[in-house]
Amino acid sequence: MATVLTGGTVVTAAECYRADVRMEQGRITQIGESVAEDGDQQVDAAGCYLFPGGIDPHTHFDLPVGGTTTADDFASGTAAAAAGGTTTVLDFATQHKGETLQQALANWQRKAAGHCYVDYGFHLAISDWNAAIQAEMTAVIEQGVSSFKLYMAYKNVLQVDDGVLLAAMRTARQHGALICLHCENGDVIAALVQEAVARGQTGPEYHALTRPALLEGEAVNRAVCLARLAQAPLYVVHVSCAEALRVLQEAQERGWPVYGETCPQYLLLDEACYQKPDFEAAKYVMSPPLRPAANQVFLWQGLADGNLLTTASDHCSFNFKQQKELGRSSFQCIPNGAPGVENRFGLLYTYGVAAGKLSLNQFVAVTSTNAAKLFGLYPAKGTLAVGSDADIVVWDPAEKRVITARDQVQRVDYNAYEGFMQTGNARAVFLRGRQIAANGRLLDAAPAGRYLKRSRFASNRMS
Ligand code: URP
Ligand code: ZN
Ligand code: ZN
Repeated sequence: MATVLTGGTVVTAAECYRADVRMEQGRITQIGESVAEDGDQQVDAAGCYLFPGGIDPHTHFDLPVGGTTTADDFASGTAAAAAGGTTTVLDFATQHKGETLQQALANWQRKAAGHCYVDYGFHLAISDWNAAIQAEMTAVIEQGVSSFKLYMAYKNVLQVDDGVLLAAMRTARQHGALICLHCENGDVIAALVQEAVARGQTGPEYHALTRPALLEGEAVNRAVCLARLAQAPLYVVHVSCAEALRVLQEAQERGWPVYGETCPQYLLLDEACYQKPDFEAAKYVMSPPLRPAANQVFLWQGLADGNLLTTASDHCSFNFKQQKELGRSSFQCIPNGAPGVENRFGLLYTYGVAAGKLSLNQFVAVTSTNAAKLFGLYPAKGTLAVGSDADIVVWDPAEKRVITARDQVQRVDYNAYEGFMQTGNARAVFLRGRQIAANGRLLDAAPAGRYLKRSRFASNRMS
């Protein structure tokens, strides 16, 4: 039996038009006027937008960090994604030192399989390096993992040196993969942290003070130079500040294949959060840290102008109680990261579209289409077209709600956007034609998310 969404406005990255959408066997089979046939189930979408399901290209579920593990696993994290309008997540399968890439991938496949409420794929985060690991990159790409994350920060834990970056970029270019980089100067940060701690400056606000924007700008510049040398495309994750964005803009003006991602936390929250009393500031300890509010206008403009192509939650949730609290004695021990997978889509609509900063088409581009293109999922994902997966959000723009941890689906004891207003609501969310969420709640159904074997990176998809 087919399901037909009637009376809505279809929105893609390029178009906006009134049409009915027919979904059959997981795919979109017709888009047009009055496409329903006898026996079809009809869902009234009058007054609503029909958006491609959100794609969150940056989450960390079930990730062990410094003796603790993220509060959300694949079940709760993908349930939260579905509730908020995200139907695909790309999580970082993280290699721990001493592991092969195959071990890391198998580990993440095991954590995710059978537990996901939305479709999922993996990037491989490389923390250890030798010739055998480099050689393994090709096998991993063949298994559908066509992107790798490397870290220029988190010294002695995840950080790799510039020689490794160059080698990984060369291998990625040769085999059609995309390098995703965490750009902060980890060596200098480690020195600044040591100095701060020696002075007795151990409160959470020193997390931000020891990771200045200058060191993000410097790392992005170095990364762009290395990518030029390797003649490789580059994707800079979680761009937080004007210093970093400027480097990307200059590279893009020269025609280099350099892409940027930002996150709602950098668009909407700022360094004032580190002044919150009673250790509450620890909720906002993430890397890069929140920046002065003046950066936000540049980041929004970067999204509107296409210098930043994607928005990601960088969902990496730790409970305030017992997890963030591990760092009461010193900010170095606060696990880095914040939740956001449930709210990214709604926040981008509210503070992007409804606030007049993004058009509807730009919203779709930065919440779904561009990620699908960059990460080898397009056009099955990231658009509404005949033949595409029927991943559809029926978005009612007339609704309003207040974001609060009290009614959230993500399994963490706070919400970084507590009290923020959301304009519009995901009235219904479909994953491959099956409704999985309604009005911000997960429907009572078994997790049906599938592993997505992604194609190789293709720069011509991006133009
Ligand atoms: O603080 C953050 N962002 N934690 C997650 C790991 C990362 O660097 O993306
Ligand atoms: Zn990172
Ligand atoms: Zn991250």
